[in-house]
Amino acid sequence: MQIKRISRVRGEITVPGDKSISHRAVMLGALADGDTHISGFLGGADCISTIECFREMGIDIEKNGDRVTVRGKGLHGLSKPVKTLYTGNSGTTTRLLCGILAAQPFDTDITGDASICKRPMGRVTKPLALMGADIEGEYCPLHIHGRRLHGIEYNMTVASAQVKTALILAGLYAEGETVIHETEKSRDHTELMLRAMGAYVRTDGLTVRVGKTESLCAQDITVPGDISSAAFFMVLAAIMPGAEITIRNVGINPTRTGIIDVLRSMGADIKLKNRRSSGGEPAADILVCASRLKGTEIGGAMIPRLIDELPVIAVAALFADGKTVIRDAAELKVKESDRIAAITAELKKCGADITATEDGMIIRGGIPLHGASFVTRGDHRMAMSLAVLAQMADGKSEIDDAECVSVSYPSFFDSLYSLDNN
Ligand code: S3P
Repeated sequence: MQIKRISRVRGEITVPGDKSISHRAVMLGALADGDTHISGFLGGADCISTIECFREMGIDIEKNGDRVTVRGKGLHGLSKPVKTLYTGNSGTTTRLLCGILAAQPFDTDITGDASICKRPMGRVTKPLALMGADIEGEYCPLHIHGRRLHGIEYNMTVASAQVKTALILAGLYAEGETVIHETEKSRDHTELMLRAMGAYVRTDGLTVRVGKTESLCAQDITVPGDISSAAFFMVLAAIMPGAEITIRNVGINPTRTGIIDVLRSMGADIKLKNRRSSGGEPAADILVCASRLKGTEIGGAMIPRLIDELPVIAVAALFADGKTVIRDAAELKVKESDRIAAITAELKKCGADITATEDGMIIRGGIPLHGASFVTRGDHRMAMSLAVLAQMADGKSEIDDAECVSVSYPSFFDSLYSLDNN
């Protein structure tokens, strides 16, 4: 598909609901007693995979646009699925389900698409095994034998909210306390939601403690807009001369706002307005005006706070004066694609000065760029980052697979092209 160039970036947009929170709302809603009403649910393919998996396990879920009702059956109310659970492209569905399924009184098979079958699952199956879980395979398809679990104290080896959440979910079923020490603080939506539902979950710095739980109390959940989706428009507005946009109702949980901190450190003009709480999660309207950017260094504890935004941050770096260094981000290699290789290869096609490193990349900005024929590798965040880049590169650009944006932002191109009409 050829990427249409828009001539101006002005006005207001609303981005779809947060992907991480939408997944958790369905999963925890299914395990709660009573009905969970979700509004602002992300209807992207990944979250639909989560809904389908729980339907396969006997949970009644009604979806009407962005409103979803999950008729929870309690922590022990799931039934054995008749067929293999299919998680599509969704790492969150696959890894979080491992934590729940490991503790069920039945066996399950679980698999996903070609990308999921290449993503490492040992990072969840190994610590779960220490809790007594019995999971065959380190890559999908996985065969999970339900077992009685016991609490453990576990030092995480990667900064991953998916691993942490799988252990927390298993911890709800395990005898005794489960104590998890993170390497860096990762997104904490699970902890916030579980606490709101009445579970024993304590956080102290990098340590999370969870106790065996009798029941979860269903809550109404309002999902704020996804900052990871807003990031594409934040970057576009920051780099496109004359741009000025407002992105309404975006989640600004501090474990997710690395994109704001980094863009500001590059000189971006970003304001947060109408701060409020949206279902226990902080939210605000984000105003971004174009400004001159400079290069920056990104690493350490910042990485988990913007891991999904690094492809589009690399695009921002192309339009910043000087050098941007991204380090401590080896996790990029095991996302929907190997994002270090993917970003480097695609940005080079435009004439960018970018070098891949073992755990990140080095980008020299301020070089004139030309359009190119991009390959997304089926990775939704690559497709959207490249669409942003195409707006600023001279001449025409095309991408091989625009459809893959449906994983997290089905209406992305509508939002992009709408900015021209304001
Ligand atoms: C997610 C955690 C992150 C992120 C993914 C969603 C989650 O993955 O990249 O898109 O919802 O917990 P890791 O936990 O592997 O870092």
